[in-house]
Amino acid sequence: MTTKPRPVTTRDLVTKKARHEKIIALTCYDALFARLLDAAGVDVLLVGDSVHQVLGGAPSTLGASLEQMIYHARMVRQGTAHALLVVDMPFLSYQVSIEDAIRNCGRVLKETGAEAVKLEGGSAMAPTVAALVARGIPVMGHLGLTPQSVHALGGYRVQGREEASAARLRDDAAALEEAGAFALVLELVPSALALEISGSLTIPTIGIGAGPGCDGQVLVLPDMLGLNEGFEPKFLKHFAHLADAVRDAVRQYGTEVRDGTYPGPEHSFD
Ligand code: KIV
Repeated sequence: MTTKPRPVTTRDLVTKKARHEKIIALTCYDALFARLLDAAGVDVLLVGDSVHQVLGGAPSTLGASLEQMIYHARMVRQGTAHALLVVDMPFLSYQVSIEDAIRNCGRVLKETGAEAVKLEGGSAMAPTVAALVARGIPVMGHLGLTPQSVHALGGYRVQGREEASAARLRDDAAALEEAGAFALVLELVPSALALEISGSLTIPTIGIGAGPGCDGQVLVLPDMLGLNEGFEPKFLKHFAHLADAVRDAVRQYGTEVRDGTYPGPEHSFD
């Protein structure tokens, strides 16, 4: 008899770090892929607000709405039995006031069945993170290149290259751990700094463009599957080339419909 692995918890991620076991995370936006990723042993499925950009075609994540995140998170919940489900809080759903943050993050957990939320920002967000954690809402932090601040940061650029901004990142990471975050995403941070920050925390870091020294890695699923053509940042590796596979399949379908080989007798009813 095969026993199903029990669902991953936020505590499991901290334990994994202590045991030097890497955390495997991917973004996911629907039930179809959630089933595949869950069965493949992914620890964390992140319903990223990148959905607005990657699937929605928008120029940034700023326009993502709470309703959109809830809609996608519900779909992912349907396909997830094992992985920890984390939902990105969209721009302006948690920054205006702590009351707003509690109401909106609580709504996400209630209406989607997700286990945790992710929000962007460092020391300035620490009181919000502490208030959420005190009310039973697990929080994953996000530091470095925080896409909701893309205009304030002057574009999608590596963060923490200068000593002052590196020092700020160290302080932000410590503040989020102190506030009770259970993990941190580090995005576009030099490898040496990400390694140092990871070593200074007991909670795990999950890197994207932050080198191999993080406690885990996350990628945007359509990017790593080779579906998001034209997006080629240095940190990205294509683990498949699905855009080619889709084009080939659709061309083949067109050819067979045109020449009458599809549908054949085996696809037709007497
Ligand atoms: O929205 C997203 O997909 C993310 C990942 C890049 C970590 O925040």
